[in-house]
Amino acid sequence: LPPPPTAGASAAKAARTLIGAPDGTAPSVVEWVASVARLTEPAHVQWCDGTDAEFGSLVETMLDAGTIVPVPARPGSYLARSHPDDVARVEDRTFICSVDDEDAGPTNHWRDPESMRETLGGLFQGAMRGRTMYVIPFSMGPVGGPISKLGIELTDSPYVVASMHAMTRVGTNVLDAIAEGEDWVPAVHSVGAPLAAGRADTPWPCNPTKYISHFPETREIWSFGSAYGGNALLAKKCFALRIASVQARDEGWLAEHMLIVRMTHDDGRRLHLAAAFPSACGKTNLAMLKPSIPGWNVETIGDDIAWMRTGADGSLHAINPENGFFGVAPGTSEATNATAMAMLDRDTIFTNVALTDDGDVWWEGMTKHAPEGLTDWRGERWTPESGRPAAHPNARFTVRATQCPSIADDWDAPEGVPIDAIVFGGRRPSQVPLVMQARDWEHGVYVGATISSQQTAAAEGPVGAIRRDPFAMLPFCGYDMGDYFRHWLDIGQRLGRNAPAIFSVNWFRRDADGGFLWPGFSENARVLEWIAGRVAGTADGVDTAIGVLPSDGALDVSGLDLPEGVLDELLEVDAPAWLAELVDVDAFFSQFERLPFGLRRQLNHVRWRLEQQ
Ligand code: GTP
Ligand code: MN
Ligand code: MN
Repeated sequence: LPPPPTAGASAAKAARTLIGAPDGTAPSVVEWVASVARLTEPAHVQWCDGTDAEFGSLVETMLDAGTIVPVPARPGSYLARSHPDDVARVEDRTFICSVDDEDAGPTNHWRDPESMRETLGGLFQGAMRGRTMYVIPFSMGPVGGPISKLGIELTDSPYVVASMHAMTRVGTNVLDAIAEGEDWVPAVHSVGAPLAAGRADTPWPCNPTKYISHFPETREIWSFGSAYGGNALLAKKCFALRIASVQARDEGWLAEHMLIVRMTHDDGRRLHLAAAFPSACGKTNLAMLKPSIPGWNVETIGDDIAWMRTGADGSLHAINPENGFFGVAPGTSEATNATAMAMLDRDTIFTNVALTDDGDVWWEGMTKHAPEGLTDWRGERWTPESGRPAAHPNARFTVRATQCPSIADDWDAPEGVPIDAIVFGGRRPSQVPLVMQARDWEHGVYVGATISSQQTAAAEGPVGAIRRDPFAMLPFCGYDMGDYFRHWLDIGQRLGRNAPAIFSVNWFRRDADGGFLWPGFSENARVLEWIAGRVAGTADGVDTAIGVLPSDGALDVSGLDLPEGVLDELLEVDAPAWLAELVDVDAFFSQFERLPFGLRRQLNHVRWRLEQQ
């Protein structure tokens, strides 16, 4: 692989001409782009400016190639059908290439950076032949903001460019900022399917061999073989979480897999909340919550990623570094997320949903019954009798944040919003209560570190199996998670009295028949109201072995027809089950050589409390 860009690079005129770089582009950028072009040998190099005109021509290119088809029922909307084997993140093929393997920690796949450079060098050689290499300058967060960061993605996929238009801030002003000396992250992506001269392209080129590689020391990303969002939109999981988490560790801030919302009441109560749930466990839904209880309003700030730094006032401030939403389609309906349904009525790229004969999209859960006349996500005729889902379970929508009816007016404020509460959650069919407050920051870090959840279709792997997913960051932390836990403890120390309160929630408890015990969705506002009350010091809680739970009557369930005993079940502490779980937590912790002592102390304390019960 060519070396990472160096700030002092000398603008070779030949290089600039070779790739057609705009005047004023920083020499380091020119030389880096030229070096990747020499390696990958694209037929053309196109510098992207993020304009509507550019988007329009990308759409033309993709329509011609059959990558997308129009969705006539929704203006400006398209459906992309991926290759059937390129539908989700590939965690087994995701690598952290730190110099020292211990810096990647026991939960990441580590590869030696030298040997990975050699492997990738071979794969990327000539990989873009016959294709256009797009140069995408992008900003995460508003350009120039104190928490924002810049990057440049090179890709040979127009689908990736079009998606980056929605998900990041693409523009030449990013190149200007880099020329003025701003730091940036280099990211290279190829679908890994060079086009032989005269050969027809396939609608969704990709390669069975996939590498999603991160070099934390040099802050580089190299992704090969997939065009699926999480593997190919390198600004998102690769940069905004894996590389940014390393930058955050080094610079004293937090890069997290969290939604951000503001919840206000007509009477002046107000709460800013950041919440981490594993993939496909309800972040986008909670971010767009329509409260069922009167007086409350929720404004969306972000639905997937939060970058948080101590602000001038000493409290933790969060921005959503993204510019749009890449959300799970199945399960989204008027009943579960009416806000998202309104947001998707135009200018949306759908991926792997079904298409109706009258030109609209459909997915499982949108309506109770599938409409007559459907083409499934593979492009084949579909009926309910086929026994397969019409939309892929990880089908997604890509849409700009400004299209969201509940987006906060100041959602892109450069300095972010002050966070009052941090919430952790997972998909647990039993035992984990509906809501709980951690006793203090250290206990809260323990709660975050021990999140576990049933696996979903968002990543390849056995759906339904319970795995530990600390901070919902297991697939996204770019360094040793023991160090990561310590970093969280340090941040709490530094915040002191300004530290947000920490909670855990679980919307996914099931009854004996497999139905959900808690109605969830808009009714989750009741849980947020209790959280707001705890932060304000007005809501009652009982201190239990595992944390503080709502006291009798403290959680407003009026008007909900919960069957007899269900609320008690949702809030009970089953000591034997928890003691059994702690054996698993203990084993999980044991793999971390760098586990901070505070987490062991918390584990021992919880165990001791349970044994007293
Ligand atoms: P990523 O975007 O992959 O990080 O996932 P996410 O956390 O944003 O997940 P999302 O909000 O898209 O939710 C995924 C699934 O969880 C959908 O099938 C939802 O219907 C379901 N879900 C969300 N909230 C609730 C809830 O309160 N109760 C129940 N039962 N299901 C929920
Ligand atoms: Mn996510
Ligand atoms: Mn989401």
